[in-house]
Amino acid sequence: DWKLQDVLTEQIELVKSMVGPDDYAICALSGGVDSTVAATIVHRAIGDRLFCCFVDNGLMRYKEQERVMETFKSDLHLPVTCVDATEQFLGKLKGVSDPEKKRKIIGAEFIAVFDEFSTKLEKQLGKRPAFLVQGTLYPDVIESCPPPGSGKSHSHTIKSHHNVGGLPAEMKLKLVEPLKWLFKDEVRKLGELLDVPSYFLKRHPFPGPGLAVRVMGDVTLDNALDTLRLADEIFINCIKEAGLYDEIWQAFAVYLPVKTVGVQGDKRTHSHAIALRAITSQDGMTADWYHFNTKFLAEVSSKICNTVRGINRVVYDITSKPPATVEWE
Ligand code: XMP
Repeated sequence: DWKLQDVLTEQIELVKSMVGPDDYAICALSGGVDSTVAATIVHRAIGDRLFCCFVDNGLMRYKEQERVMETFKSDLHLPVTCVDATEQFLGKLKGVSDPEKKRKIIGAEFIAVFDEFSTKLEKQLGKRPAFLVQGTLYPDVIESCPPPGSGKSHSHTIKSHHNVGGLPAEMKLKLVEPLKWLFKDEVRKLGELLDVPSYFLKRHPFPGPGLAVRVMGDVTLDNALDTLRLADEIFINCIKEAGLYDEIWQAFAVYLPVKTVGVQGDKRTHSHAIALRAITSQDGMTADWYHFNTKFLAEVSSKICNTVRGINRVVYDITSKPPATVEWE
């Protein structure tokens, strides 16, 4: 696509002219497409004056940290520091079950970790990084700053998504947003031009607060996170094996805090239930639940109950958006 090749060249030049030869930039990678493509563009422009970090908050999917770090290293040759902040995040989330409180805590912790990363770099470089790379897309720009007369307003938000404009003004970072004029499909194409592997570009979206919004209630109880990770991995693998991954916008498992009675291996059990959700969508704003065939659902259900300790029941979410949201919290 010659037009996108031009956009790429232009953006690389723009970043070069923005970030002076003695300046440094930082970027928080989430493991998602947008931040990865944004960082790759900036890396092409300023090389090792870009410092990326990936924060493991303990709310990631199965083997997520190893998988994305491997992609950054082997496929993208992007130097990334992995910060393990699991205990810090989970410590703060202990005993908290309100969804919005969970989001606020995660947002605040994330800023604290990122600020510390910046301070460490300042000591090492003798100068604090002045630029922040973000994978903001055009729809994010419109949503957080609606054009006059569009009838939309800031207070239009249903959930506090913390990945847009979440960093406090006192960090005084100048924003570098090379994807600001692009839509998701264009970012994927840019990613292709930058040799980002296609399996990575096709990954389903994943919310900033991670599995915290997929464990209903307190995430630290009953080994919920590990249980959810396994069930989710089984579900996703079944979807991939059936060749359905690319036609689904998002699919995931949800951990329910309720216990129900079951019978497993001649024994009565009293264990947790897992809900499965899969949707099709254009942009996440509205969505339809995905119509799997019943044989597929039966297979996933028995695989999860036979493999995941502490689960004796699987239910499938047949609600569209609206009335439900995509995530359960
Ligand atoms: P909802 O649940 O609002 O989700 O229908 C719409 C899309 O947004 C994602 N989502 C989030 N993304 N931070 C994020 O970065 C969040 O707090 C958050 N909440 C929901 C969700 O996965 C879906 O793609």
